[in-house]
Amino acid sequence: MRAADISDQITTVLVTEEDIREKLAEIAARVAVDYAGKDLLLVGVLKGAVMVMADFARALPMVVPMDWMAVSSYGSGTKSSGVVQIRKDLDTDIHDKHVLIVEDIIDSGLTLSWLLENFASRGAASVEVFALLRKPEAAKVHVESKYVGFDIPTEFVIGYGLDYDEKYRNLRDVAVLAPHVYS
Ligand code: PRP
Repeated sequence: MRAADISDQITTVLVTEEDIREKLAEIAARVAVDYAGKDLLLVGVLKGAVMVMADFARALPMVVPMDWMAVSSYGSGTKSSGVVQIRKDLDTDIHDKHVLIVEDIIDSGLTLSWLLENFASRGAASVEVFALLRKPEAAKVHVESKYVGFDIPTEFVIGYGLDYDEKYRNLRDVAVLAPHVYS
């Protein structure tokens, strides 16, 4: 589905499918150089990262395994606590591996900040982050992200893996959700 198919439900298209394709090719070329000869493992964070992982992994000109984590905020259901619960752990032992976490978005930064600490404690050789989107003004904690696709404003964004109430993940573009949809 393209943004034009749901033009009554969005206000602005922030990043188009074409923008994403170009950016993924650019970052894949950098990653191929940076990790040449290294034991690289891509780790996607479910569910938002499914689209970016699928396209990014295929843009890489090298053999690379993928693994997945599913996490959620613990207890209250609010993200602000920064306490994260593992719903699905890695299948892979990351000891001595070069891990690249693939995320759709860094919002407050709490999820990644927790994941980075968790992965470091498992003895990975290195842990870096590729986030397709980042909301710099929403940051509650600083997360060092080696590869960032696009900085975007602090708006309710959907598409390319990002949802509202589990909907809109299949939008090919990234767009701002119209307030009448959620208010
Ligand atoms: C989203 C996104 C990141 C996280 C970023 O996931 O995929 O994992 O939020 O937010 P933060 O920087 O404020 O921690 P979400 O918890 O909505 O789950 P989902 O990926 O299944 O949609």
